[in-house]
Amino acid sequence: MHPSIKIANKKHLKYAEPICDMIEDAAKVRGTGIAKREIKYIENKIKEGKAIIALANNNVIGFCYIESWEGQKYVANSGLIVHPDYRKTGLAMSIKSSIFDLSKKKYPNSKLFGITTSMAVMKINSNLNYKPVTFSELTNDETFWKGCESCKNYDILKRTNRAMCLCTAMICDLSTVTENKTAQNKKKSWERFMRFMKNRRIRLQRKIKKSPKLSKALKDEK
Ligand SMILES: CC(C)(COP(=O)(O)OP(=O)(O)OC[C@H]1O[C@@H](n2cnc3c(N)ncnc32)[C@H](O)[C@@H]1OP(=O)(O)O)[C@@H](O)C(=O)NCCC(=O)NCCS
Repeated sequence: MHPSIKIANKKHLKYAEPICDMIEDAAKVRGTGIAKREIKYIENKIKEGKAIIALANNNVIGFCYIESWEGQKYVANSGLIVHPDYRKTGLAMSIKSSIFDLSKKKYPNSKLFGITTSMAVMKINSNLNYKPVTFSELTNDETFWKGCESCKNYDILKRTNRAMCLCTAMICDLSTVTENKTAQNKKKSWERFMRFMKNRRIRLQRKIKKSPKLSKALKDEK
């Protein structure tokens, strides 16, 4: 099946558990201590139409959702995850472009922000016109900052009275964003991901041709 990126709907509720597992596994590898997402929480985001899902062969390969703070003054695109087999292919950029568009549609006058130590996320955010800012520009909503408590670097945030930490803060004022720029970014990243998928298929077909054992196993599976 052709890979796809779409707004998640109730047909995708069955993917909530594998999404939580992917997020948990990635947090273990990174050792950031980022809190495990609850299945119910992810299900609610899907039901509310506030999530983007990427699928390939009926498996979830990527996900991201929207959260809002201080009413709708601030929004964040959280829980970004890409299956390890599909990383460095432009998939995260495609997912973030889609969730960016959805955020702009739902919250046209909000400030979209994120905090991250991930180089990939910083690159993606820059491409989407986020600008680096100090923590003082972010929401004061206690529920947002509570999310940092499970991070192993929380003592730094506490010591600096939330003025700084190891994460970089980035923000984008959605009211100033033009449709054109985001459409261009989205097209570029999707083309890159589809090139990866095509090359992968070619590599796989070559491997199958070279290996009679693999070829037989695939036939037996069918
Ligand atoms: C972070 C993550 C979502 C990136 O996904 P991805 O599909 O590999 O990202 P993309 O292929 O779209 O890459 C986007 C950019 O980041 C770069 N990049 C990707 N992984 C990188 C890495 N580990 N280090 C540095 N740059 C990286 C890419 O080269 C690309 O840059 P470019 O536009 O200059 O070419 C993925 O690695 C992941 O799921 N990690 C675990 C969860 C996580 O860390 N989430 C973020 C929480 S803030």
